[in-house]
Amino acid sequence: MTENRPPLSDPVQERRALRDTESRIAIAGHPLHAMLVAFPIALTMSVLGADMLYWWTADAFWPRVAGWAAFGAFVLGVIAGITGTVELLIVPGIRIRSASWTHFILAVMLLSVLGANWAIRVGDHEGAVLPMGLLLSLLAAGMTVVTGWHGGKLVFDYQIGTRPGGKSRS
Ligand code: HEM
Repeated sequence: MTENRPPLSDPVQERRALRDTESRIAIAGHPLHAMLVAFPIALTMSVLGADMLYWWTADAFWPRVAGWAAFGAFVLGVIAGITGTVELLIVPGIRIRSASWTHFILAVMLLSVLGANWAIRVGDHEGAVLPMGLLLSLLAAGMTVVTGWHGGKLVFDYQIGTRPGGKSRS
């Protein structure tokens, strides 16, 4: 019975391009995207923290903090997103994996929420916080957790951005 079965094939083993997952947007092999995402992640959480402190204390200092943090989260998120997108498009082994595109879709949705969370604060830091600013901050924080967790899965589960077998490109 078993001798009639066609031999099993592993497309990743057979096609060299599928193994090419090493980051190209990198400094000395260290992916820029992984370095940059820390900033929008931290700033998004800071916006949420500042909004909650304003809700609690009614101190006008916090909406100003939240407004600047929301601006930084959006701009640095876009910059991090550009490095990730270039990586996604130019590296065959990243481009071909559906998980990379799932991360891209999650990230673009997150960036649009970060943009909205900054835009509603322009011109009226304080009036924007309750309730819409706080709600958008909660949504952004939740989406950051999901997007960041999924980004980690790309690296640790699928080895995206890493050198196969630990070998150097040079
Ligand atoms: C907008 C488009 C984006 C694309 C196309 C993208 C693509 C990628 C890719 C290809 C990786 C694998 C590592 C690498 O090659 O550098 C990655 C990792 C990661 N991404 Fe994104 N990304 C995007 C935006 C974001 C944003 C906005 C966040 C912030 C929440 C984020 C969080 C992460 C994290 C935390 C990792 C894991 C880094 C590590 O542990 O080394 N990504 N992303």
